[in-house]
Amino acid sequence: MGKNILLGITGGIAAYKAASLASSLSKKGHSVFPVMTASACEFISPLTFRTLTNNPVEVDMFTPPERHEVKHISLADKADLAIIAPATANFMAKLARGIADDLLSTIIMATRAKVLIAPAMNVNMYQDASFQKNLAILQERGFTIIEPESGPLACGYEGKGRMVEPEILARKALASLTVKDLADLSFLITAGPTREPLDPVRYLSNYSSGKMGYALAERAVARGAEVTLISGPTALSPVGGAENILIEKAAEMQKAVRKELAQHDIIIMAAAVSDFRPHSIKEEKIKKDQQKLTELELERNPDILTEVQKLKNSNQVLVGFAAESSDILVKGREKYQRKKPEILVVNDISQQEIGFQADSNAGWLLVQDEEIKISQRSKVAFAEVILDEIKQHTISRGG
Ligand code: CTP
Repeated sequence: MGKNILLGITGGIAAYKAASLASSLSKKGHSVFPVMTASACEFISPLTFRTLTNNPVEVDMFTPPERHEVKHISLADKADLAIIAPATANFMAKLARGIADDLLSTIIMATRAKVLIAPAMNVNMYQDASFQKNLAILQERGFTIIEPESGPLACGYEGKGRMVEPEILARKALASLTVKDLADLSFLITAGPTREPLDPVRYLSNYSSGKMGYALAERAVARGAEVTLISGPTALSPVGGAENILIEKAAEMQKAVRKELAQHDIIIMAAAVSDFRPHSIKEEKIKKDQQKLTELELERNPDILTEVQKLKNSNQVLVGFAAESSDILVKGREKYQRKKPEILVVNDISQQEIGFQADSNAGWLLVQDEEIKISQRSKVAFAEVILDEIKQHTISRGG
């Protein structure tokens, strides 16, 4: 369900970055209520935020509200989360010292919601003793400071003071809205395809996009879990907050899984591991000087899931995947009995919109004798259902 997010924008050049933060939070289905200080309006127009969020942009304490309500109190009360991005040294000083002389500072003082603060300023201002003192006060009072990055600053200086990128802010905001119900669990997740080299320029692989495994890793991180993701080559960015281990061949995935296995409570094998690899990798590029190529000899790759099933201890929960295009449930059941994970996710890959590279998924979860149908939904929403089931499973086993 969408949450109410109050987005405070104060006067700094990084205010333009707040526009893409507003946009990505709105796109995730949340209601974003922008509140700008007067100096923020010198850097970026309120109209930008109004258009991106579809909500009125508040600047002034005393313009009459649309409904009869005390504006700063109603905004403070309805916020599930507040973010101030960018936050200037001046605004943070006011917050630290209890000065409420405009709408935004008044709201932040009145709200009970969690407040994230993303400072942005010149490096010397950032290091200034009075600013550092104010920063310490704010941290002590429970404000969450999202520390700026080091790098070239708009003022021409180089150093710490650049506001973190909006994607990172959005991720942190969403994470703070999520209940940390997986905080005690550590996940090992495999994702993506493997690539089996044939000669110096070619390989055997499959159409796996990695989206399902990455969605699981992202949601598990957001719900507080510790996550290690072992991924074959994909077009996706590493999952923030997780340890990302990149591999190519099935043998490398197997080695990485063996090394990691003992340290995790839950092992999810969402990777589409190539079942076969070329018997030998040609040192020279294979030439097209023949009409038919018949000498391609393949051998079986190790089945990593089967190996994990044998090596893991009885407290570790193993979750496998099966991709089926017909008789989905019958074939899934057969695989469940043969490979013996605690949970098997049976994917229906019969239709394009829920296939390998799609953004949606549909299928079944097999848990002992139970068959839980999951109707078509986004891979992120599908990941949530799988994680809910894993959580349920660990609770019922007393884990
Ligand atoms: N798996 C694995 N190592 C392999 C092959 C598969 O770890 N060499 C894992 C996958 O990550 C997935 C599950 O095993 O969790 C899939 O099992 P598999 O029996 O290979 O099913 P399919 O890929 O659906 O293939 P098939 O139906 O051809 O057996």
